Amino acid sequence: MTCFPFLFRKNVSPVAKHDPDINEELSGIQNTRVYTYKELKIASDNFSPANKIGEGGFGSVYKGLLKNGKVAAIKVLSAESRQGVREFMTEINVISEIEHENLVKLYGCCVEGNQRILVYNYLENNSLSQTLLGSGHSNIYFDWKTRSRICIGIARGLAFLHEEVRPYIVHRDIKASNILLDKTLTPKISDFGLAKLIPSHMTHASTRVAGTIGYLAPEYAIRGQVTRKADIYSFGVLLVEIVSGRCHTNTRLPMGEQYILETAWEVFQRRELAGLVDISLNGDFDAEEACKFLKIGLLCTQDTPKLRPPMSSVVKMLTGEMDVDDSKVTKPGLISDLMDLKVREERGDADRKISSSYSTSSPSDSQGTTMSLVASSAASTTFTIKYDQSL
Ligand SMILES: Nc1ncnc2c1ncn2[C@@H]1O[C@H](COP(=O)(O)OP(=O)(O)OP(=O)(O)O)[C@@H](O)[C@H]1O
Ligand SMILES: [Mg+2]
Repeated sequence: MTCFPFLFRKNVSPVAKHDPDINEELSGIQNTRVYTYKELKIASDNFSPANKIGEGGFGSVYKGLLKNGKVAAIKVLSAESRQGVREFMTEINVISEIEHENLVKLYGCCVEGNQRILVYNYLENNSLSQTLLGSGHSNIYFDWKTRSRICIGIARGLAFLHEEVRPYIVHRDIKASNILLDKTLTPKISDFGLAKLIPSHMTHASTRVAGTIGYLAPEYAIRGQVTRKADIYSFGVLLVEIVSGRCHTNTRLPMGEQYILETAWEVFQRRELAGLVDISLNGDFDAEEACKFLKIGLLCTQDTPKLRPPMSSVVKMLTGEMDVDDSKVTKPGLISDLMDLKVREERGDADRKISSSYSTSSPSDSQGTTMSLVASSAASTTFTIKYDQSL
């Protein structure tokens, strides 16, 4: 973790600009640049719709020009995401200190009145979901070398969060829309540390988690076990997406082929992995490397969490410093295998009911997260997870 206190201390807003209660809360906060609401209003031209660049589960994102000339992505957290100043600032302070080439930089935040706003470095080339996996609106061509570099970059960023930041950070929402690209197409992981900003009384909006269901490790979806292994599972799904150029789920395909992991497992068993590589590359790719990446994707998504390699090993496998052992690849954990479950219980009860259908993960490392799961079909699946705030 790199800390640049000289960068932040110099810029911390004069405390006098905030109301006295907030001044007191902010007094211990050293590293975070605090913006006034007015500053961000000016930067985003009054949060004008023309400057709105996206909307996610936490709120709306605006492009803005800061006083210092830097372009920023200004994320206005929705009303439900607003928690107490101290709690909020404690988390923000942790995120502010984290610097890595493959992580989006948090410039600072705003905590005036009810407002909770995050100010990030703006990335010029949008997210992987809107470019590589989008519906053809992007004019970026991702050749094999670029994809390989992107996969390695994401793995490095996640390895940093998992193994170098102290205490380590579980991202909890690794997915294509949280991988942003700068002007040289260097990938940057966004939204790390954000899950902890959700107040404990607030559960995820069902639509939001349903949108990311294809990335959820089974033990996370079923038991709410939020561990690094769940992130590694999501990374594995993303890796297969990047190599294949296909989204994790395509309900227009016949049953049995709708989930990319099902297909990856099938072609792996038939020793035809190269057939899954994106056809838009027109055969112009390093087949050995691409197949290796797909195998790593399968290693990361194995049903048993402890079989998934740590991110530092994933980086080494991707870069060729460590061999990938084919014989170690076991069947991926597929949430679709669980779709016939109909459960709506608080955790204790849920564990009892689920254990008869799902028994691969041990409850011992569960961290007290409660969840309800209602799963009937891919189309109508609704998850409501209450995050464990202690992680
Ligand atoms: N730092 C940034 N630079 C450029 N664009 C960004 C930045 N952060 C977010 N965006 C844009 O805003 C969109 C919405 O981001 P946001 O994180 O709110 O939602 P999401 O990633 O789609 O979903 P989720 O809330 O689950 O993370 C992104 O898809 C991206 O296009
Ligand atoms: Mg996001």
